[in-house]
Amino acid sequence: MSKKQKWEYSPALEGTDHIQLKKQYDLFINGKFTPGAEGKYFSTVNPANEEKIAEVAEANQKDINFAVESAQKAYDNTWSKMPGKERGKYIFRIARLLQERAREFSVIETIDGGKPIRESRDVDIPLASAHFFYYAGWADKLEYAFPGKQANSLGVTGQIIPWNFPLLMASWKIAPALATGNTVVLKPAETTPLTAMKLAEIIQEADLPPGVVNIVTGAGDTGKAIVNHPDIKKIAFTGSTEVGKYIMKSIAGTDKKYTLELGGKAANIIFEDASIDQAVEGIINSIFFNQGHVCCAGSRLYVQESVAEEVIQKLRNRMSSLIVGNPLDKNTDIGAINSKMQLDKIKMYVDLGKEEGGNIYQPSCSLPKKGFWHAPTIFTDVSQSNRIIQEEIFGPVLGIQTFRTVDEVIAKANNTAYGLSGGVWTDKGSKIFKVTKDIRAGVIWANTFNKFDPASPFGGYKESGVGSEGGIEGLRGYLDLA
Ligand code: NAI
Ligand code: MG
Repeated sequence: MSKKQKWEYSPALEGTDHIQLKKQYDLFINGKFTPGAEGKYFSTVNPANEEKIAEVAEANQKDINFAVESAQKAYDNTWSKMPGKERGKYIFRIARLLQERAREFSVIETIDGGKPIRESRDVDIPLASAHFFYYAGWADKLEYAFPGKQANSLGVTGQIIPWNFPLLMASWKIAPALATGNTVVLKPAETTPLTAMKLAEIIQEADLPPGVVNIVTGAGDTGKAIVNHPDIKKIAFTGSTEVGKYIMKSIAGTDKKYTLELGGKAANIIFEDASIDQAVEGIINSIFFNQGHVCCAGSRLYVQESVAEEVIQKLRNRMSSLIVGNPLDKNTDIGAINSKMQLDKIKMYVDLGKEEGGNIYQPSCSLPKKGFWHAPTIFTDVSQSNRIIQEEIFGPVLGIQTFRTVDEVIAKANNTAYGLSGGVWTDKGSKIFKVTKDIRAGVIWANTFNKFDPASPFGGYKESGVGSEGGIEGLRGYLDLA
């Protein structure tokens, strides 16, 4: 049996008959779907086949003004006056409705964004509803979250999210804002607006008072209109460091609060005493999960010299068995790259890696003709100063270096502008404590990677961001503590 045949599975396609999508989505403002002031629409496509799925409205300044006004009225008249216990019931209802419709949401997430159905089904959608459940529980317990302090809500919050975990990011932002008594104007990313629009339907169904949550679609200019609106009290952003810097500059000198969750260049460290097979599987997951479209992806790998050859060989073997293709197939490991723009960026970095003298390995896999695809890629013979080691690629591309001592690898891991996450693989608890203490990153996983829970905070050091989301910490950014 050839190697290829050994890994071939029959397709196991997730059905799409059960999903309900409209051809066109208007803005969700004041509890109603409303056309934009200019009547402009843009398309969202399926990145796995480049086919148009639906059109969504493009919101301009006037629409944002209307959304903020509605959110302000809802804040003043109902939401800020409602007891936490009552707010909690609404959030709980959203969580339940999401859970009931998880299958539909998973499929829509996969066709709009390109991620494998296994991930939308097992990670994105369950975690999104878990966030609503978790924060529903805090709504009437804020006095216990911050003992001795008075927890005051802020007012209207503006939330701008990216395309890598569309519904999950919406839930990270909306759930704590509602639990703390704030109202929301949220903008999803322009390539993945559909689960946010479906969430708007759930919010309607949950009977939230009109204007408490408003969802507006559009690209950068729509985002800017939110950032610069004078009546917005807090901006919560996840996305590129570049836009994060723009936001900081724009709101400097205003009294707007902000949390920014930006890029990353996480180091995974494998010591010679690690369980190598477990580590290899973890590395594969950390960089190829969601096509590497993960801000905390383990995009740099440091392997102790004595086991480097073994680890690299095992990584190559495992890579050759990864299944790249139709995201709706339950066997698929690596789905479609989210957009042509992102694919071009990844290709640019792969070319650059070769120019910088890196040794590239890609397993032979036949990529579909239509759509945006990239093979899993590793580079060896790279060094700290290479751009592919310093800059965020946001794709399935891993740079591998070796090290001899603990101090050396800590220095290398910290030698980056980012500080979002990291991973350590070792049999020794003492090394775990040393590495997690000395690496400047918001989250460091030990002998695992990419594990999330609504109760644990997430946020970065340095250019990876400001403030935390998740857990009790995640409430803080939505409150004035007096
Ligand atoms: P982006 O930062 O431009 O987009 C994120 C969100 O911000 C989208 O909703 C977008 O419409 C909005 N936006 C864009 N310009 C804005 C502005 N001036 N003011 C307010 N909102 C604005 O990210 P993009 O261009 O999609 O991806 C570029 C790179 O950013 C990626 O290659 C990746 O390296 C990084 N990125 C990081 C993410 C993370 O989770 N930390 C998520 C997405 C991208
Ligand atoms: Mg799309």
